[in-house]
Amino acid sequence: MPSLIIAPSLLAANHGEFAQGIQMIEETGLGWVHLDVMDGHFVPNISFGPQLVADLRPRTSLFFDVHLMLQKPDRFVEAFVKAGSQRLTVHVEADHDVAQTLKIIREHGVAAGIAINPDTDPRCLLPFLSSVDLVLCMSVFPGFGGQSFIPSVLENIHFLDQERRQRGLNYRLEVDGGINVETGLLCIQAGADTLVAGTAFYKAANRQDFIKKLSA
Ligand code: DX5
Ligand code: ZN
Repeated sequence: MPSLIIAPSLLAANHGEFAQGIQMIEETGLGWVHLDVMDGHFVPNISFGPQLVADLRPRTSLFFDVHLMLQKPDRFVEAFVKAGSQRLTVHVEADHDVAQTLKIIREHGVAAGIAINPDTDPRCLLPFLSSVDLVLCMSVFPGFGGQSFIPSVLENIHFLDQERRQRGLNYRLEVDGGINVETGLLCIQAGADTLVAGTAFYKAANRQDFIKKLSA
């Protein structure tokens, strides 16, 4: 299993002070930021677009892990790559030819990820697992930060970890939504190696302590 990565979600930072939100991640020594892009169609909320990614790019060397919650993600691959994204993760439930979108992402020279919602059967990912470098298991219904972790998702994580081992694949297994110390450790036990944390990271009284507890 790859070593643990914690990716704070900028969605939970103050949207008037994104640069400060980035700085808070850098201060902890973590290397990734998770950027949640929402279009108001695929999910019932709107967050930010490629302009924010482009404007943050020169300010940091953090890895930009971009989660596209878009109904038509293929239409925006180029814009998000040009803006400086290093991975684009698209949803299997969105309205697109999934294999084709993953191919387009890779052809643009960035890593490709595939995401599933909590109630989607993870077996629908089987045809795509060999062409992604990350699988994202949503542990809340996407759209908003600050929701509670859905425990049944641990089964999806376990299934996708088993599949990875049996087939000798090496995608990262990321979990996103309602991650705190308790739920994060359950995800790691189930086979996850990459944890997205929004609210728990930005609202933590002591961020280093939060990271240390998850990494123990
Ligand atoms: C939900 C987003 C998540 C979420 C994480 O649509 O994809 O990244 O905001 O935030 P918390 O950790 O607050 O659940
Ligand atoms: Zn996300």
